[in-house]
Amino acid sequence: MDTSLKQKRGLQTTVGFKVVMAFSGIVLVIFVLFHMYGNLKMFFGAESYNHYAEWLKHDLLYPILPHGWFIWIFRICLLLFLLGHAGAAACLFLRNRRARGSQYKVTKGSKKKVPLASRTMKIGGIFLLIFIVFHILHFTALAIQIGGDYHALTPYERMIVSFTPDNWASVAALVVYTAAVAFLSFHVWHGAFSALATLGAARTGAQPFLRGLAALCGLALLIGFLAPPYAIAFGFIS
Ligand code: HEM
Repeated sequence: MDTSLKQKRGLQTTVGFKVVMAFSGIVLVIFVLFHMYGNLKMFFGAESYNHYAEWLKHDLLYPILPHGWFIWIFRICLLLFLLGHAGAAACLFLRNRRARGSQYKVTKGSKKKVPLASRTMKIGGIFLLIFIVFHILHFTALAIQIGGDYHALTPYERMIVSFTPDNWASVAALVVYTAAVAFLSFHVWHGAFSALATLGAARTGAQPFLRGLAALCGLALLIGFLAPPYAIAFGFIS
């Protein structure tokens, strides 16, 4: 094949991966913002939080869909977006590495040339993937039970026992959740602006606003996600 045609195709593929990453990333940010908002219901008491958890799992979109269907459709879509996002990121990483040929020419100090934000995005992304598996085993599958017998507890009580630091596992959970939320906040702060730029929204005039919006999302996630666990840990919610 002609070299320029090959290069053009290569560029189109790279742009394609970037668009997949940007679009799936924005959908995932919307999900985490809703999830964070839902968790804040912990501050409104047991009845409010348990009712919300029940509605989410069994009654959302009922009677348009039968009881409990929505959550499964939602989970499948979420998984596809997550796979699309992580898969496109991995493909872009491999293409960049191949283009640079850096696996063959490792020069002294070459690591320093990769910006800190970009390295943190990669490490953070991998950490978040591992965290999501742990998190689903913890709160959704109830296979990891921290602080009590989850099958005998309501969703509100599961949150309370998970983050009441009266045993080593709950202290560890607090540390793991704090790290995950910190990585997520950084990931969204840096990723949201790039995603909007890829999708063509970051025209010169709009850039300061979009950068501010991305930073605000990151900060809101940090404060909003960590507020319930720390309120539990310090005894404000019990
Ligand atoms: C302090 C932080 C967080 C807390 C306390 C928390 C709490 C919860 C709880 C209680 C559930 C179970 C809902 C249920 O099945 O009844 C859940 C599900 C879930 N969370 Fe989180 N979460 C946190 C952070 C995150 C983060 C950072 C992410 C993603 C990066 C995330 C992604 C998910 C996902 C994908 C589910 C599964 C939804 C489902 O299919 O049921 N969570 N979370």
